[in-house]
Amino acid sequence: MLLRTPYLLLHLSANAAGKFKRYVNHTGYNRVMSIEFNSVINELNISSATLKNWLKTDDLSVDKNGFITTESYQNFKKNVLGKSKLNKRANKQHFDKPDIIFNADNIVDANQGSIQYEQSLSIAEKNKKGIYYTPNNVIDDMFLVLPTLKTTDTFLDPCCGTGNFLMKALEKGFNPDNIYGFDVDETAIKIANMRFYQMTGQYPKNIKVINLLEQQHTQKYDFIFTNPPWGYKFNNQQKNNYANNFNNGIKVDSSALFVLICLKIIQKNGMLGVLLPDSFFNITAFKSVREEVLKKALVQLIDHNKPFTGLQTKAYSFVIKNNNRLNSIKCRTENGKYKRKQKSFIKNPNYIINFDATDNDERVISHLYSYPHQTLSGKAKWALGIVTGNNDKHLVTQKNDGYKPIYKGTEIERGSIKEAQFYILDDFSKLQQTANKKLFLAEKKIVYRFINSNLIFALDYKQRYFLNSANFLILDKHSLFADDRLAISEEQLVFLLNTEIINWLFKKLFRTHKVLRSDLEKLPIFSHFFKESNHYSEQDFHKYLNIEKNNGTFRIKT
Ligand SMILES: C[S@@+](CC[C@H](N)C(=O)[O-])C[C@H]1O[C@@H](n2cnc3c(N)ncnc32)[C@H](O)[C@@H]1O
Repeated sequence: MLLRTPYLLLHLSANAAGKFKRYVNHTGYNRVMSIEFNSVINELNISSATLKNWLKTDDLSVDKNGFITTESYQNFKKNVLGKSKLNKRANKQHFDKPDIIFNADNIVDANQGSIQYEQSLSIAEKNKKGIYYTPNNVIDDMFLVLPTLKTTDTFLDPCCGTGNFLMKALEKGFNPDNIYGFDVDETAIKIANMRFYQMTGQYPKNIKVINLLEQQHTQKYDFIFTNPPWGYKFNNQQKNNYANNFNNGIKVDSSALFVLICLKIIQKNGMLGVLLPDSFFNITAFKSVREEVLKKALVQLIDHNKPFTGLQTKAYSFVIKNNNRLNSIKCRTENGKYKRKQKSFIKNPNYIINFDATDNDERVISHLYSYPHQTLSGKAKWALGIVTGNNDKHLVTQKNDGYKPIYKGTEIERGSIKEAQFYILDDFSKLQQTANKKLFLAEKKIVYRFINSNLIFALDYKQRYFLNSANFLILDKHSLFADDRLAISEEQLVFLLNTEIINWLFKKLFRTHKVLRSDLEKLPIFSHFFKESNHYSEQDFHKYLNIEKNNGTFRIKT
């Protein structure tokens, strides 16, 4: 909505929610008429992209000065947010418990106090600050590769919480004087100190409230073992500071920052063990941190499954020795124990540490990549399915005038597309996020399910619309057919991406539940196969690649 009355801009004043534009009209009546973007972002704790979407969908409107009108903001809070988002948040909180004020001074048994403290925290608080203390059996597993200790060896957990790693280090025989623990949480540090005292009878000198990310580090440590905060919700200022300090193109993520700092403060030949979410080991955002880790000698990799109560994320740990003498690495997953060579990770796309692939799997992966192939990188236009912003509002089950069918990811099958269940008005202007309509109307597009651990691709030559549970690509004929030997048709590409072997490879490399463009662009596309075979058969494809199926996996034919 636009300002209709000529108000005179008086001044900018800040209040608790942020900055508001204050106007005085000719009667001297002083009103808050409009709000800066940043104030809304801060008050609702949303991203600027979310705000842009709300503006695009006309949920909020701006005045002629480019500020959000107070009226639209208040209506939005009451009618839109109030009904959906805030309710969802409220419901979420309803199932969570409030944080109990925990008094560490009342603790009798320090080990019990540690458990009670973690239990006193709400799920919201634990997730926001990444506070999940490590169970003892996980620490035991990470410590399996500890060598015989020297009395001078130092041990650090740089975010020790209530001291689970520190207590295990004491048990293993580290000299109590050489045990260091930092954390930003004062109560946790108090409990860690009490546990230390309870166990050794001496007051710890080195277990302190320290913010690892804001500390100058002069000391190095022989052993650093930890479970850093995962996905700590930094504020914008912290994000900016940390992005500047660790300017190596990493995503500002707490666990990645902790790994980078630990790599700086570990002694030469010292050992670093870190427990991390499984995504650290394969997603593109952590590529450059993995590259740093792989410059050191990996010693052990373990899949700990889901060790934290109330958290569905899988946890993996790595242990490295701070030198570059690369040996074979002890790996343990639910499939068993085996050894992998560090080189096999270094040559993986994006330095993916896919240690759930066995050494046989790794041989097959190398074998596949040794065949002539191209990749889709730079050879296609990619687009995401439509984000309506509100499916209840935009999708209907009957085909009305001006409406077109719209398809969900689950309606894509390998090689075919099922009937659509919904229709949408053929006008993209009020939808939250859409690719250029021209892309949807391409003569042929290759569509695939987005949320899936399998590759499920089909060809669409009917200019269909898709929701964001599906994505699509359009082959760029110029680059693809520039070299005749690499030529591949859309039909051939759909066949290849749906094959068992390419699905197997995709899973072994990326272990993901989302089919991402960046991963698809790394897969080998064996266009040469079609020079030798003009009918699409998996058996012929296996023969061409000289591989065979074996107990649910593949092996190279001898
Ligand atoms: C996942 S918990 C792990 C605690 C302990 N290492 C364990 O494994 O039981 C992460 C810890 O990091 C702490 N933390 C978060 N940000 C920190 C920072 N910038 N510096 C030091 N500790 C931090 C949290 O308070 C929390 O205790």
